[in-house]
Amino acid sequence: MESFILEFANFMLRWLHVIAAIAWIGESIYFVMLDNGLKKPESEACRKKGVFGEMWAVHGGGFYHNQKYATSPEKLPDDLHWSFWKSYTTWLSGFALFILLYMTNPAFYLINTQSDWAWAANLTGWQANLTAILFLLSGWVIYNELCKRISPNMERDGLLSIAVGVMMIGVAYVSTQLFAGRAAFLMTGAVMATAMSANVFFWIIPGQRRMVNAMKNGEEPNPLDGKRGKQRSVHNTYFTLPVVLLMISNHYAFTYTHEYAWVIMALFIFAGATIRQFFVLMHSGQIKPAYPVAGVAMIMVAFWIVSPQAAPQPEAPVAQVEEPSAGVNEPSAEEKSAPAEGEELSAKMKEPSAGKEPSAGKEPSAGKESSAQTNDPSQPEEVKVAAVNDAKASDAKQAPQEETAAEIDEQTKAEIVESGQQPESEAGHEEQEGPFALVEQHCASCHSQAPTQPGFSAPPAGFAFDNREQIERTKAKIQAAVASGYMPLGNMTGMSDEERAVIAAWRE
Ligand code: HEC
Repeated sequence: MESFILEFANFMLRWLHVIAAIAWIGESIYFVMLDNGLKKPESEACRKKGVFGEMWAVHGGGFYHNQKYATSPEKLPDDLHWSFWKSYTTWLSGFALFILLYMTNPAFYLINTQSDWAWAANLTGWQANLTAILFLLSGWVIYNELCKRISPNMERDGLLSIAVGVMMIGVAYVSTQLFAGRAAFLMTGAVMATAMSANVFFWIIPGQRRMVNAMKNGEEPNPLDGKRGKQRSVHNTYFTLPVVLLMISNHYAFTYTHEYAWVIMALFIFAGATIRQFFVLMHSGQIKPAYPVAGVAMIMVAFWIVSPQAAPQPEAPVAQVEEPSAGVNEPSAEEKSAPAEGEELSAKMKEPSAGKEPSAGKEPSAGKESSAQTNDPSQPEEVKVAAVNDAKASDAKQAPQEETAAEIDEQTKAEIVESGQQPESEAGHEEQEGPFALVEQHCASCHSQAPTQPGFSAPPAGFAFDNREQIERTKAKIQAAVASGYMPLGNMTGMSDEERAVIAAWRE
């Protein structure tokens, strides 16, 4: 019941978050459009009043006449409309969602157990939560300092944009090291979103208040307040599209499980900002198709990088061959350059992103080799043993191969018996039980109509693995999720590389 209530709260908060963000971003886009679309006022009277630009619009069956004053209108009305709650609501609901989903389950969602940075991989739950908060805070502090130092008088905005762009590449990279893939995308988006809200909270609104107060006291407002408000608002505008792209990429595991997830993020950020630039210019009357073309090209590059043919093959079956075994006669490139440290290597095998030689796993020949090896119907037993062997051999600390393979075989059999599935007497059939038993053992505690894993009230992502048919139907997704290291989530159920190899070698 408790997890159901949490789920429900999550659902409702998400609704609020999305609605508030739509309202905020919509308003932000509207004002940038308005600002860029202003024309010189036609009437002399307006110009005399101090109107600097105006826009006529028709909307919802009515005609609207917006006017912008160059400095201040003669008399400021008392009921000025202020825009800030949309921004604050978006940030607060987003942060609440983050607490509810990520910070209550840091082991599942936050910790990157496969990080290159050993300290990050070994964070405890509360340390990971603290790291997340510090990450958001430092993101804001660094961005704010860049703005203050590079462009204190809002005169070097071009240089500042470049600095912020470089900073975001750094944020993307560091986030993939500190946090699990999905959280990394979220945190990078959240750094930008936090800067947006903090811009409103610390600069735009206080600046506007100072301006209003000055006008009310009959003083000249400080022009820097206006300029700074504009500068930060322009940043916000370029952040909107990337932030939304990063937030929704959360739902697409192929984006954030890739070894170069940070490159994908950087491409998304620049693509979003570039596409936004097209609309900013369009509202001021310039049509520059090169911007959306460049933006779409960046997204295509990102998708090319994550596309299945470019994605790393399951590494386990082709890694490390100590002696010739079924289908593999030559030592692979990886073997020659293998470090002696067994642990280091096994960490690499789990997560493509940890690999220092990304191309090795991608070699088409390596991929073919492995499928040829595992497809060979004449030697089903050897095939599995070989795959398992190969994986095992990578771990220098492990016992000699034959023993290990036999061990695993025993283990798999034991699992099959345990799981209540009757192994059929033929070796070929028995062979096929392995993956099902493993899914049952490592996945079904979460992925079930009735999850037994605390904190889960329904099968995550809608995938329940309660019976063979369900497992078989989801085979491709299971293999992808296991090969990328994304599943089991946070490796909560402790799936070993050998077991991953069995899933990877699973054929019809
Ligand atoms: C600790 C709980 C947990 C365990 C154990 C677990 N999963 Fe998941 N799984 C999740 C959650 C939560 C999601 C949804 C995450 C998301 O939306 O990205 C998910 C999503 C998935 C998805 C969908 C990913 C996508 O493409 O969107 C697949 C496939 C999957 N899991 C397979 C597996 C397999 C196979 C195993 C066992 C090897 C496994 N999971 C073990 C919690 C778990």
